[in-house]
Amino acid sequence: MNAPLSRTNTCVGQAIQHESAHLHVTGHAHYTADVPLPAGALHAAIAYSPHAHARFSTIDCTDMLAAPEVVGVLTARDIPGQNNYGGIRPDDPLLAETLVEYAGQPVCLVVADSHLAARRAARKLSANWQPLAAILDIDSALAADSFLLPTETLVRGDADAALAIAPRHFSGQFEMGGQEHFYLEGQVAVAIPDDDKGVCIRSSTQHPSEIQHIVAHALCLSASQVTVQCRRMGGAFGGKESQAALVATLAALAARHFGRTVSLRLDRDDDMLITGKRHDFRVRYQAGTDAAGHLLALDIELASRCGYSADLSGPVNDRAMLHIDNAYWLPAVRVTSHRLKTHTVSNTAFRGFGGPQGMLAIEAVLDDIARQLGIDPWTVRRRNLYQPHQHTPYGMSVEGAPLARLVDTLAEDGRYADKRRAIDAFNAASPYVKRGLALTPVKFGISFTATHYNQAGALLHIYTDGSVLIHHGGTEMGQGLFTKIAQIVAEELGIHIDRVRVSATDTAKVPNTSATAASSGSDLNGQAAAAAAKCLRSRLEAFAATRFGVSTDDIRFANDDVFAGAHVLSFEELVKAAYFARIQLFATGYYATPDLAYEKGSFQGRPFYYFACGAALAEVAVDTLTGEMRTLSLDVLHDAGHSLNPALDIGQIEGGLMQGLGWLTMEQLVWKNDGTLATHAPSTYKIPSARDWPEASRIRLLQHAPNQADTIHRSKAIGEPPFMLGMAVFFAVRDAVAACASEHCSVSLNAPATEEAILVAVQKARTPQ
Ligand code: MTE
Ligand code: MOS
Repeated sequence: MNAPLSRTNTCVGQAIQHESAHLHVTGHAHYTADVPLPAGALHAAIAYSPHAHARFSTIDCTDMLAAPEVVGVLTARDIPGQNNYGGIRPDDPLLAETLVEYAGQPVCLVVADSHLAARRAARKLSANWQPLAAILDIDSALAADSFLLPTETLVRGDADAALAIAPRHFSGQFEMGGQEHFYLEGQVAVAIPDDDKGVCIRSSTQHPSEIQHIVAHALCLSASQVTVQCRRMGGAFGGKESQAALVATLAALAARHFGRTVSLRLDRDDDMLITGKRHDFRVRYQAGTDAAGHLLALDIELASRCGYSADLSGPVNDRAMLHIDNAYWLPAVRVTSHRLKTHTVSNTAFRGFGGPQGMLAIEAVLDDIARQLGIDPWTVRRRNLYQPHQHTPYGMSVEGAPLARLVDTLAEDGRYADKRRAIDAFNAASPYVKRGLALTPVKFGISFTATHYNQAGALLHIYTDGSVLIHHGGTEMGQGLFTKIAQIVAEELGIHIDRVRVSATDTAKVPNTSATAASSGSDLNGQAAAAAAKCLRSRLEAFAATRFGVSTDDIRFANDDVFAGAHVLSFEELVKAAYFARIQLFATGYYATPDLAYEKGSFQGRPFYYFACGAALAEVAVDTLTGEMRTLSLDVLHDAGHSLNPALDIGQIEGGLMQGLGWLTMEQLVWKNDGTLATHAPSTYKIPSARDWPEASRIRLLQHAPNQADTIHRSKAIGEPPFMLGMAVFFAVRDAVAACASEHCSVSLNAPATEEAILVAVQKARTPQ
């Protein structure tokens, strides 16, 4: 089933607007909390630990129960089955039993007649807390040998031997912060009791099937008694991959307990305190190069703050290790990855899933090397870029990743050399405002590293009026997956996209689905939907061939019509006729990604079906008196293969880039000494806004670049890779800071490069070393 390398499509590949755009902008799109609740529905709120680490033996519910409108309080004892929502390791209690391990950990669930009453009562939690010493950050966790998971290493060649003989040596340390997802729609679920102990849950989740299983285990039900549905999310970004299960399962528990519909919607502050974030990392390295800056050896240690439980920390840190090369050839390398246990919220998936942390690490190493050698950083990056015949440290070929084409085109038509000269001249004449420039590449592996996740299903219905309903296993979070699925089905059936409706995701329609994550939503579900549509089209072709006495080769579906030799009829007429002839008008489709060869934890083989690539060129201005920074221009060239929908893909690039820029330049999580999160609301946690988008921007897709791997219409995944384009802005800031120094030395600037951090870095750069 090889997809052609050239395109002849009419619907796929078009810049069609998001299927819900009209609903989004008019406020008519139904999110989980917008569906009206039935009379008698209850509202729940989570009462959580004020301590980062403490034991308790009794919870005093008196005050909570006495509060207005409260109908009950549930504790761990009210959970009939497994008290856990950890998908990989069962170490995530839904409600704490005798131990809390982060400030914000759920302890009990207050259920009341209204949302506000439940929240007010939840604040009255009282327990006999016995506070314990808490380990809060990476350094104290390392000092205490507080490992959550075993340390992993990925080795190619002999890094020590290569370091020993390398002409130039470099070493350093670099830190990068975490990140709050800040989805506009917070975590929310509504649980509705179903017949015979069953339960149906509407959840804002990327992973309905996992919630189905966790609810079943918690309530001692079979999976077949639990249904999970999601029409759309108001953003997720990885934050609803594993952790939506907490809210959904607690809602289900209360619905079961009280026999009524229960809504659980986290307020923004609670959401930020209770749910996990991007892992922050600390990097230490030793590198060896030749005089031109070619990397010969790299020994690099990654340490991440995982929080109190495993959650997805294993695979997130694995992906960081697998992306330590970003786009560069590392002949001899050792990557060590420490996964640290801390008494903080359990960190989780976030766009890029550890990839950004690994990639930022190598970019920081190359930046240090370039600055110490006194060579332009872009020159050093370009010298180390992969050649097509080379292999990653885990042994996968990089052939098919159009890295050189991307970066050379961007450097050329983005006029890197001219800009460099202009900036040098500007900086020489400007004592306080300094400008900086950076060009950084992105190479991101596409597929789940848990190989079994790389499968998807679909169920397609054609109704007798010629309208089409497609169910698939993916979820919509704003990224445009449902639009792409509708395009793929319309293309296959030769019908107008308006005929195709994409159903809400529903575990009762398509079972055993994977999370919509790893940017694989359209790769996997698109293939499954296409397979279902192909199956129905050939059924209709066979029917038409018999009916009109022509060969199936002479039948064509196009523009809502069906051409059978000399006969022309509408799609609807053919469908009606097929129904009366008793032809089955629904079909399933299934897809499993081929050619993957990777065992989790072996760090060898082909974990990814292909690489998605891009490059960004950023120009910034830094006020060295205040530390303020502005992005002046952004120039992006990104590889979406044969884009399924250029409008949506450009949107993903803009959004991803901006989110990456936020991570690296302004978003800062601050914990107080007692382990409570100080930045738990938009008042203290700053995400980028429209003002942060530069006046000059040029976002383009690489043209005539079909995916070499046989993906759906030769497209490439787009969800996460553009996030890492934000690195260009960070390194442009470092470049501006470097302009303050009088000699060649590294810029000591960690991420995020906030105003304060920039000021300190400028001062350091101005102080001779
Ligand atoms: N885009 C929007 N608008 N909202 C989101 O929550 N999540 C990102 C990305 N783009 C997200 C988004 C993440 S983390 C992933 S993995 C992908 O979308 C998931 O969708 P896909 O696999 O269909 O690309
Ligand atoms: Mo995305 S972090 O894989 O949900």
